[in-house]
Amino acid sequence: MRVIVDRDEAKQRVGEAAAQRVEDGQRLGLGTGSTVAYLLDALAKRVEDEDLDIVGVPTSEDTAQRCRSLGIPLSTLEKTPRLDVCIDGADEVDPNLGLIKGGGGALFREKVVASASQKLIVIVDAKKRVERLGETFDLPVEVVEYARPVVMEKLEDLSPALRMSEGTPFVTDNDHRILDLSTGPIEDPHALAKRLDETTGLLEHGLFLDMADVCLTATETSVHEDTL
Ligand code: A5P
Repeated sequence: MRVIVDRDEAKQRVGEAAAQRVEDGQRLGLGTGSTVAYLLDALAKRVEDEDLDIVGVPTSEDTAQRCRSLGIPLSTLEKTPRLDVCIDGADEVDPNLGLIKGGGGALFREKVVASASQKLIVIVDAKKRVERLGETFDLPVEVVEYARPVVMEKLEDLSPALRMSEGTPFVTDNDHRILDLSTGPIEDPHALAKRLDETTGLLEHGLFLDMADVCLTATETSVHEDTL
């Protein structure tokens, strides 16, 4: 009989597994998304039950709000510019632990917080593991509104689509817009990252290359660890 994996159950399993790795005294980067929501629930429980002494820098207003309601102590990059571990979800993960992120529109803060962290742990369910980035997910980029028409023109070959939310353009926590790029399977992620890095007005892109140290993947029955 084929076992159908409930994605929410998988996300919960991997979120809980990641929470178990957190150590007393750590300064954490806290990612964004539905998988991270399970991490936060489990982390809050450890803070409560074990009196775990941690502080988290959130990667979005959504995560900040969740932490406040769960009683997870928060800090800012101003106060805590160096972090021990960042734990975050992803939209795709390739065999080199290259990532596409930004499905929730939080990619800029996610990249800043990950870059401030000694270690990046990615938590996903098995459906997000791909051979080549871009196979299943469009690539989000955050763009300054003033420059958007120019950026769209420059990236025309990637069919940029302005992300919408309830009939109006989606606005990020930084007051910018998101373009979703139809890259298809990306042959050379580093070359594309370089091109996007060099595009004026494009604040940040969702390719996280050579950043993740560990990927925890929820499979049908367990959590599998990949380390670089
Ligand atoms: C937020 O902008 C994203 O990078 C998320 O980390 C990513 O979309 C994963 O989200 P889920 O855990 O909700 O799938």
